Order: sequence, then structure tokens, then C-alpha cells
Amino acid sequence: HKKLKPFPKDFLWGASTSAYQVEGANLTDGKGPSCQDVKKVPEGTSELDVCADQYHHYKEDIALMAEMGFKTYRFSISWSRLLPKGTGEVNPLGIEYYNNLINECLKYNIEPLVTMYHFDIPAALDEIGGWGNRKVIDCFVEFAKLMFENYGDRVKYWLTINEQNMLTLVGPLIGTFNAPKDCTNVTKELYQQNHHMLVAQAKAMALCHEMLPNAKIGPAPNISLVYPASCKPEDMLAAQNFNAVRNWLYLDMAVYGVYNNLAWAYMEEHDAVPVFAPGDEEILKSGHPDFIGFNYYNTSTVEFPGADEKDGTQNDQQNGGVEAGFFKGFANPNLPRTEFGWEIDPQGFRATIREMYSRYRLPMIITENGLGAYDKLEDGKIHDPYRIEYLRKHIEQMQLAITDGAEMMGYCPWSAIDLISTHEGMVKRYGFIYVDREEFDVKNCDRYRKDSFFWYKKVIESNGEDL
Ligand code: BG6
Repeated sequence: HKKLKPFPKDFLWGASTSAYQVEGANLTDGKGPSCQDVKKVPEGTSELDVCADQYHHYKEDIALMAEMGFKTYRFSISWSRLLPKGTGEVNPLGIEYYNNLINECLKYNIEPLVTMYHFDIPAALDEIGGWGNRKVIDCFVEFAKLMFENYGDRVKYWLTINEQNMLTLVGPLIGTFNAPKDCTNVTKELYQQNHHMLVAQAKAMALCHEMLPNAKIGPAPNISLVYPASCKPEDMLAAQNFNAVRNWLYLDMAVYGVYNNLAWAYMEEHDAVPVFAPGDEEILKSGHPDFIGFNYYNTSTVEFPGADEKDGTQNDQQNGGVEAGFFKGFANPNLPRTEFGWEIDPQGFRATIREMYSRYRLPMIITENGLGAYDKLEDGKIHDPYRIEYLRKHIEQMQLAITDGAEMMGYCPWSAIDLISTHEGMVKRYGFIYVDREEFDVKNCDRYRKDSFFWYKKVIESNGEDL
């Protein structure tokens, strides 16, 4: 038996949500629409105007989080609630809502961990081209400044952009990608938008350090190691290729301010090299994260594609699609799957943390990890042993990674409370707290404690010793 190192004393146990998935009140009290409000929700899934109705239940929700013993709560601030048009006029009721939410957290000594942007660009900015338009960089910096001014006296931990890598790799699937009508090279457009987000992120990190010297800020990509499907040398090359465009592109840039060379070669090959404006190079080097936040759900596996396999197959969130001569997604036969078909790989979590630490040497916080399932409410109870098992195994592997020498600051699984899933609406639940509503019948959104709620409380109380 290995002797395990304990979790650090001030380890930030908590959980996550995002504004457009949890708040509801999407056009209430002066909030402008975001891209999520105007895009067509996937057919057969719920509207976003109620979600978990946290906007009206935040006191109850934070009290429940405090009951579990949360040390932190990761939530996102809706850009169009503060700036209904994405720039210019400020919505005072929006400012007030997050003041209240932050104060409510602090009342229970819960550290707010704020994501600045989680999949919900204001619709007004989308109309001018979204991230394809360089002006949006300045709008983002304006939004960042507004948040730092209003909340910087109380918020110590900031995250820039949630899953920027997924916005680029599967943006068209998430519904966040905005291509001009005459766009002939989607890959080029995606990497130009990505470049603008990278510049915006670097500027926000530098501004945070300038305005709030005691605060800490970092990126929040979705990171997971990519395995080669076999020990064939070409499969190793495919895994390195996908690792570069899936993971390292984003972190090499956030941490070192440079484009990963394999990712750059990929962009060259696809005529997708981004245009740099004067000064971009310096800006990209000026943003230094204090830590890395990352979401982990599962690993990916790839093989080297045959010569006749072409580009253009749609990527999926997990194993990617086919990129000619680069990589091809491969279902890993060694891993079980969730009810929704996502592979489950706790050891891959340890491997990912090890790799991240040896590449970047920064402390890390897990900003998402979790299992979506069809939970059932019966007699006021929700038995979710599958979720407990998933989380337990991941926490065990995180502790092994700490024992391996990685520096971990906290763990925020997805999600604190049931909310609208990105693709599957309300039926795919992730929370410790059950929200009593159906896909289309929103009922009263009453809250119930799941079995995992009581289990997680015990985990936090024992600082991860009682799993
Ligand atoms: C992450 C996102 O990709 O995965 C969340 O940051 C999302 O917004 C979560 O909800 C789970 O994905 P899904 O599609 O099951 O909701």
C-alpha cells in the first residue's frame, strides 16, 4: 500500500455552475440576451428562461452549499446581465445580483470562484461578428474591468474563459460559433476567433494583476490526456497531434505566451494561421496565470488515420473526429461509460494531473468533473450511488496525483446543483442538489438533497479522508 499525502489544509472543496445553465431569469431585470438565449435550443430540450431558477433561489442554494461545507463556489457572471449590449450601458440590477450572490457566499466563508465567460457571449456582440471581430477583445476587457471594480474587493479567485478549447474544437456543436455567411474556410475562422480570445484572456489576466494585486487568475480549459490506440509508432504521433490541438495549444499560450509548434503546423496545413495585429505577440506574453483551472470528464483515444480517410467528419467532445494525416477518434474498449455514453477514466485523471504539472509547474484547481445521469426523485429522496462512485474514484486518483507531487488547490465538480446540460436539457443531471422540475414543466423548482449531498458533506468534513 502506498502512503498517501493528505489534501492540503486549505484545500478548496466546492462545486461549479454557469450562469446561462443555472440562473434562469434570462431576460429579467435588465439582462440582455446572450447567444444562448437566441440560439435554437436542441429540439426536445428545455428553454433557458428558468433553468434551476437560481436567480430567485440563490439564498437557499448557498445555504445548502454551506450545509455541505463548501469552501468555494464556482459560478459564472453573465456578461449580458452586467452589460446588456456587451459594451456601454451598465445594468445596475445585474451588478446588484452578483453583489448579493458574492455576499451570500462570504456570509458562510465560501470563497467565490468566478468564471468571467462561460459560453454566453452577449447576442449584441454576436451580431457584429462575435469573437471574429477584434472589437470584441476590447469589450471583454471592459467587462473584466467592470467586474474587477465592482467585485474585486471580495473575489480573490478568477477564471477567464470556460473551455476555450471546446469553443474552438466543437463551437459549432455548442452553438457558440458565429461564422460570416461567406466563410469558405471554417477552420481558419475558428482559429482566428480563438486567437482573439487568447489575446482577450492575456489582457484580462494582466489587468487583474494591475488592478487587484492580491487576486489570482487563471484559464479554465477542458483538459484530458489523449492516448494512442495502440503501441504502433504512428498512433503515438496521432496522440501527440491531438494532445497539441486539444490541450497544449491553450495552456502553452496561457502560460508561456507562445503557440504550440504542432498546433501551429496544423493551422499552417489548413491555411488557418491567425492574423496577428501589431502588439499581439507582446500582449500574449504579458498574461501570466497564477494557477490553472481545468475541467476533466474523461480521456480521449486516437489512432493514426488511413490515407483514404478525409477531414470534415464532425468532432465529438471526447475522441475527436478524423483529421487527414493527423488523428482519428477511437473508442477506448478498456473504459466503462455513463448512461450518456461518456467514457469514465479516473486513472486518466491522475495521469492528466501529472502531465499538467510536469509541463507547467503551476498549482491547479479542478473546475469541473462529474457524471450526468437520469436521477429519480422518490419519496423526497434521490439515490445516486453511481455519482458517488464516480466522484470517489476521481478524488482517490487526485490524492494519488498529490502524492506524486502535483500541487492541487481545490476540487469543484460539476455541478453544485442540477441545471440545464449543454446538449441534453434538464434530463441529464449532475448536481448534489436535485431541482424538482421536468424538461418542460418547471413546477416550483423545489430543492432536495441527493444521497451524494450527504456523502460529499462527509468528504469535505474529513478533508478527503472519509471517502
Ligand atoms: C462542460 C461545460 O463542457 O461540460 C459545462 O463547461 C457542461 O457547461 C458540462 O454542462 C457537461 O456537459 P453536458 O453537455 O453534459 O452538459
